[in-house]
Amino acid sequence: MEQPRAAARRRPPAAAAAPAPPRILPLLFLLTLALSSCGAAAASGAPVGEDYVRPPARNSGAQRKALLGLFPWSKKKTSSSASDPQQVHVSLSGEKHMRITWVTDDNSVPSVVDYGTKASTYTSSSHGESTSYSYLMYTSGKIHHVVIGPLKDNTIYYYRCGGQGSEFQLKTPPSQFPLSLAVVGDLGQTSWTTSTLNHIKECEYDMLLLPGDLSYADFMQHLWDSFGTLVQPLASTRPWMVTQGNHEKESIPFFKSGFQSYNARWKMPYEESGSTSNLYYSFEVAGVHAIMLGSYTDYDESSDQYAWLKADLANIDRKRTPWLIVLFHVPWYNSNFAHQGEGDSMMSAMEPLLYAANVDIMIAGHVHAYERSGRVYKGGLDPCGAVHITIGDGGNREGLAQRYHNPKPFWSVFREASFGHGELKIVNSTHAHWTWHRNDDEEPVKTDDVWINSLYGSQCIQDSSPEFRKILMSP
Ligand SMILES: *[C@@H]1O[C@H](CO)[C@@H](O)[C@H](O)[C@H]1NC(C)=O
Ligand SMILES: [Fe+2]
Repeated sequence: MEQPRAAARRRPPAAAAAPAPPRILPLLFLLTLALSSCGAAAASGAPVGEDYVRPPARNSGAQRKALLGLFPWSKKKTSSSASDPQQVHVSLSGEKHMRITWVTDDNSVPSVVDYGTKASTYTSSSHGESTSYSYLMYTSGKIHHVVIGPLKDNTIYYYRCGGQGSEFQLKTPPSQFPLSLAVVGDLGQTSWTTSTLNHIKECEYDMLLLPGDLSYADFMQHLWDSFGTLVQPLASTRPWMVTQGNHEKESIPFFKSGFQSYNARWKMPYEESGSTSNLYYSFEVAGVHAIMLGSYTDYDESSDQYAWLKADLANIDRKRTPWLIVLFHVPWYNSNFAHQGEGDSMMSAMEPLLYAANVDIMIAGHVHAYERSGRVYKGGLDPCGAVHITIGDGGNREGLAQRYHNPKPFWSVFREASFGHGELKIVNSTHAHWTWHRNDDEEPVKTDDVWINSLYGSQCIQDSSPEFRKILMSP
């Protein structure tokens, strides 16, 4: 037991990635890649949680391939014809609508999507918008965003992008429970990412939620393209709802304000939900109201985000959406050494409001490990608080966050530094089944497995309503 654990500790630390100046980044990046291929720990079956010892990483990540043989700022050619759709992904866009996003090398391709419920039979057509951006020496392809609908619930649609090329298909989410959500954070594009995505592909899910850190492009824009290509098989078939992490920022002081690539490529339904920023928004699906917050934009009580959140919460009808789920990047309840305390200021600004609104589950990423809390509020257990889940373990190149504070805090129920994904199967208005799946086990293996009850119908909602009204009324 001693030997493999010592070996595991020699792996590169999952350091806080404060963006270094761009010129040394490619170098650092190569160094990280070189280091991360020597981490080795012997496989062992039974132990779970902190005692689990991971087998070594497999070779050849998409990111490494993308890097080799490519000038870091150049665009990667991924399609056979310049007008072919690339990097197709879909997201919810208000009630009964979906946004189709794709990229073409050819600027003359129209932003149009033809679609219908029978293969190769397109009964409807929608026009949308397009954008592109330049970043250092890189210029993106034409990025198309087209909203289609109204669509029927729980139905397969066949669609074609730009009036030509291959056919894609997507399934719209159901309008009633059961609803199945796949959850993954800090994805990146390594061989671990590929295993995680393969696992997600095997499970039946209606929608994917990603609490930040998508491509790990880190200033090298062609890696946004390779990420789009990597996720297309999944992201073109089910809505992917994402929020930003630190790796989406890519700001350069006095030169580039942040989130340029992220906002251009991963447009989310912020306008549809009354927000003025792509960095925070909400949506409703079946009986769930989901709020995607921004850890990397202002969140204090005088901020636009806070004002928007208050207005969004005030409009929730728990009879219509008994479940209330909130996602953001930096965790508030985290017993790992990595990023310890980073979520504290956002937590002190927003936790009272979210508690008064009776949030059921809060999901974060950032820490490259998995952790689940009991119901908590203000650092203590509270039956009316939210369950906090940290799931920044999609498989990125920075490796795992292996060191935990000991003893385990009383509020922490389960913690393990492994790559994997989560599944939230919401059965009805009161019961949901949450499972966490390590990506080096077979997909059906559930390493963490728990039933979560919603606060809907509990005394908590009545008890907190005066406090909630008070916060809502405050200036
Ligand atoms: C909700 O699902 C749970 C678990 O299957 C079940 O025990 C419970 O009776 C269901 N509640 C309702 C109101 O259907
Ligand atoms: Fe992060």
